[in-house]
Amino acid sequence: MKTATLIQLIPFASLAECLSLPPLPPVSLPPVPSIPGVTVPLNDLAPPLPILQVPTPALDSPPFTASDIKPKKIGYFWTGAGDRQHKDFLATYSLDDDTFGTLLWITDVPSSGNDPHHLGPSLDGKTLIGGGLLSLLKTQDTAFYFDTTNPYRPTFKKSNRAILSSIADEIRAKPDGGFYITYMGSAVGTSPGRLVETDADFNIIHEWPEDVPSVLNILKEQFNPHGLSIDWERKNILTSDFVEPVTILHPSLGINKADTLRLWDLDTKEIINTITIPNGGGIQDVKHIPGNPEGAALATAVHLGQVWIIYPLRKDANGKPGVTELLFDLGPKARDTVAIYTDITQDGRFFYLSLTTANHIAALDISDLNNVKRLDNPDEEQPTIGPHYVKVTPDQKHLVVTDYFVQTGALGLINTPADFKALYVDILDDGSLSFNRSIDFQREFADRGGAKPHSSVIFDLTDPEKPLYY
Ligand SMILES: *[C@@H]1O[C@H](CO)[C@@H](O)[C@H](O)[C@H]1NC(C)=O
Repeated sequence: MKTATLIQLIPFASLAECLSLPPLPPVSLPPVPSIPGVTVPLNDLAPPLPILQVPTPALDSPPFTASDIKPKKIGYFWTGAGDRQHKDFLATYSLDDDTFGTLLWITDVPSSGNDPHHLGPSLDGKTLIGGGLLSLLKTQDTAFYFDTTNPYRPTFKKSNRAILSSIADEIRAKPDGGFYITYMGSAVGTSPGRLVETDADFNIIHEWPEDVPSVLNILKEQFNPHGLSIDWERKNILTSDFVEPVTILHPSLGINKADTLRLWDLDTKEIINTITIPNGGGIQDVKHIPGNPEGAALATAVHLGQVWIIYPLRKDANGKPGVTELLFDLGPKARDTVAIYTDITQDGRFFYLSLTTANHIAALDISDLNNVKRLDNPDEEQPTIGPHYVKVTPDQKHLVVTDYFVQTGALGLINTPADFKALYVDILDDGSLSFNRSIDFQREFADRGGAKPHSSVIFDLTDPEKPLYY
């Protein structure tokens, strides 16, 4: 790999001439500041870079009919246009029983073809942030902020990008405003990514880690953080390494999957241990189990199709905190399903997992960690294609699933089939799932070649004294 420092750029001026577009200004990636001993090794490590896309102007959403109803339960879906030419957008829908699936509003952002990724709310519910997966292909911003002060009419607030890192993934709100966000890749989509922190005005104030031992740690061993979970009480952070994003795009020498998680000290943002799931093949997600007496967390190993439990406080063989062991094997159909994303009910009893290319959503009863029970039938045919993002609704009665992961098209190696629906699945008393209603984004947004909803946030305003944002 040492000789492969090769940046391939389309000669923009000549391409523009063939397409008889006005000449475009030269485009370059933002410079990486030189930090001796830190950024210099990047020169030796950089793999081939993807071919940049012509930054065509994004088209506005076609006119739509807004509804004036004011449902108590609102679903926000962070969505890309099927034709990749119209603007990426936030779709706001009613999730109330009597008006389920009524479109309330569409909020455009300035970008197109960014592949909207995860979405998360601020603690006060006044802001949503959505990440863009393919931002670096058009050198667009990667984080997009929405003002939801009026929850029925979100407005686009601003967007930004970091200097050292790109490709925003998982999002956690800070108690004092602002966010922590995993950025899976470096500024050019390689390893290492960073853990980005914003202030309450959503300006990027840190790209962690910043201390020398932790920076050496992430340079030494692939660091492409995707999953992110924070235990505010015990003051630790877990991030899970998934894949090196640039390697899913052409030209690629093969996808670099990671087997590791990082355990961080919340106060200092130092990495205190690297935890390995042997042969994990992409640790996509990690989440602390609510109410667990040891502060344990669950992580998904995508190649293995397994759930591993992390005990952040237990000591490993070297005396460092953080050990992991196998908790549950999801069986042969769960192996190599490209993505396994999860959510856990607030009482810590039920655990839901999407097995993307298996077209399956699994449910586990984890109330007794020594006797985990599978609630779904692994061989059942479910009415879903390509489920990915799963979210338990604030009332704990439903699971919102978005049936779309990533389709890079001709640009890359990941193209998971999808039916582009948002499923509203009922959670029964024993924790098992019952498929019920859905919103069909292909049909709803046929005016732009369909639409690809990647993730959701749900507001529940049933109790005006205690609005819930999740
Ligand atoms: C779907 O949900 C509605 C509203 O809660 C309920 O009345 C209906 O029984 C459900 N249908 C099925 C098939 O579960």
